[in-house]
Amino acid sequence: MVLVVESMFGATMRLAQLVAVGCASLDARCDVIEAGCAVGRVPPDRDLLVLACPTHMRHAPTSRTREMAAADGIVLSMTGVTDWLATAGLRRDEAIAVFDTRVDAPFAGSGAKELARQVRRAGGELLVPPASFVVVGRHGGPAPGEEDRAYAWGRELVRAVSTVGAEKK
Ligand SMILES: Cc1cc2nc3c(=O)[nH]c(=O)nc-3n(C[C@H](O)[C@H](O)[C@H](O)COP(=O)(O)O)c2cc1C
Repeated sequence: MVLVVESMFGATMRLAQLVAVGCASLDARCDVIEAGCAVGRVPPDRDLLVLACPTHMRHAPTSRTREMAAADGIVLSMTGVTDWLATAGLRRDEAIAVFDTRVDAPFAGSGAKELARQVRRAGGELLVPPASFVVVGRHGGPAPGEEDRAYAWGRELVRAVSTVGAEKK
């Protein structure tokens, strides 16, 4: 399993790592790679590709919203997971999972829903519905309980991959 993550202030990266820990608890490996480092480095024979980003302006980040984030603090990445996806070349019907981080507010939007749309357009297929994890404001990190949810979601992914694998046999 490979998880390509974009994160400005570290919350999405932290949750990505907890997803990987959840996978490891079921003896499944999940390599986490930051979107800016991912071009040409993600093996094509992955059993599941996971994409993750923060929600910006109700959608997946763009170069403009990343600039806005960078004007508001030190950021981890200036490359988007959607930039990577545009270069990635998904296999037809490749199994994908997506998640975002967002604040707990009405009309917060969802970066993951947009990732899901882009994945489908690129020929991929969602293995599980898009997931969202709540953060505390722009820089406050994951809200209480969200790290546990990310760990549990990682375990859910492993079970979903093995169910699909068993059905194909
Ligand atoms: C420019 C900008 C726009 C944002 N817009 C939204 C938004 O529309 N909805 C939302 O839920 N959160 C919004 N946020 C808050 C981000 O969701 C939050 O900073 C992010 O999830 C934290 O994850 P990160 O530390 O991995 O960057 C915005 C943040 C920035 C910097």
